[in-house]
Amino acid sequence: MTTAKHTSPSSHGVPEVGNPPAFPMTRRCPFSPPEEYRALREQGPLVRVRLPSGQHSWVVTRYAEAKQVLTDPRISTDPTQPGFPTTNPESCEAGQRPEGQFIDMDPPEHTAYRRMLISEFSVRRINQLRPAIQRVVDQRVDAMLAEGGPLDLVEWFGLPVPSIVICELLGVPYADHEYFESRTRTFARLTTDPAEANAAVRELRGYLAELVARVEREPNDGLVSRLFTERVATGELTREALAGMAFLLLLAGHETTANMIPLSVLSLLENPAALAEIRADPGLLPGAVEELLRFHSAVDWVAFDRMAVEDVEIGGQLVRAGEGIYVLGASANRDERAFDRPDEFDIHRGARNHLAFGNGVHQCLGQNLARAELEIALRTLFERMPTLRLARPVAELPLKSDSAIFGLAELPVTW
Ligand code: HEM
Repeated sequence: MTTAKHTSPSSHGVPEVGNPPAFPMTRRCPFSPPEEYRALREQGPLVRVRLPSGQHSWVVTRYAEAKQVLTDPRISTDPTQPGFPTTNPESCEAGQRPEGQFIDMDPPEHTAYRRMLISEFSVRRINQLRPAIQRVVDQRVDAMLAEGGPLDLVEWFGLPVPSIVICELLGVPYADHEYFESRTRTFARLTTDPAEANAAVRELRGYLAELVARVEREPNDGLVSRLFTERVATGELTREALAGMAFLLLLAGHETTANMIPLSVLSLLENPAALAEIRADPGLLPGAVEELLRFHSAVDWVAFDRMAVEDVEIGGQLVRAGEGIYVLGASANRDERAFDRPDEFDIHRGARNHLAFGNGVHQCLGQNLARAELEIALRTLFERMPTLRLARPVAELPLKSDSAIFGLAELPVTW
């Protein structure tokens, strides 16, 4: 890595030169990132794009440079800095960083929050949760079998499984799920009217502040209540910071996996040979899950908003302090320089080096939980519903193309 010798004063964004392509770009196929990514990757590891505000930013298109950006301490995730890129300047969250939202913090502030949570999401801890996850998955399969097909797998399985699991883990009442799921959907939709999206965020933040007040009155055995007793009551955390952490965990904990489960089911139904191999040898499932994560890269760029705080050279391109960067996770995971036949779905490729969970200090805190949920959900579903099949042709499946996190709006199945 070459470092530029002189740090320039912040230029408050990428200089507006020429007419670069508009960003973000849209996915039109459940199995592919936006079509434009291939050409962008050919153009270079860093390409200039135009955000909806007219502001310019860099996007990182290739794997090696994506990893560099995600691990370089000269590149920040703090959105309160002038020039930090946003795809939605009218959002009440733009340029803001509510207390406790550690995904938007740099070390050492970020490290202190992450340390409070790391053991809660360790492989060991998540292995202890596997029987509880299995119970949730079995209950959802029971419900589907009792209902009978055809039904929408997103509504009956993909969304409820991670939603119930994260509620149980945090100590959030699942009875409130429609409330927080609908508000999450509203603000995750890139086309939502800004006033409506802002109202949804405020309501969700209010809901989590109320949850913190509730665990103070009536402690339970969830993580939020435990953090209250161990960190808020001791003066280490404020109530607002705990509500901010709970907001991040609740959202990150359901919206991501909820999209990955239906996408994964679809991919396996469309690849019957791979599915037959996994059925015959369930030991292949963890590797298949890594490949599903790489192949779909449902989070793509949305968590990867960054800004250089010093001049830094990336892939031969000088990025000046104050310039915004988005890492295109879905492009990096299809980079032919890093993956052989990247557009092929291959459960044997050993895809664990993918960037679907990011890299560096912000690498997904919930990755062990997400892996366990995906493994248990897929294994159980295909074991207990061996004749599961699509109830609508792939070409007619409605996509969540306008959502910050990609997924299927519906997955009608029968058996
Ligand atoms: C398939 C499912 C999931 C995917 C694809 C995913 C993806 C990601 C990515 C790409 C990041 C990195 C953001 C960055 O670099 O700024 C991230 C961070 C994070 N994820 Fe996940 N995630 C998933 C599931 C979960 C679950 C189940 C949880 C549970 C609570 C979770 C909690 C978090 C948190 C708290 C962060 C912030 C970490 C930090 O800033 O230190 N995620 N996730």
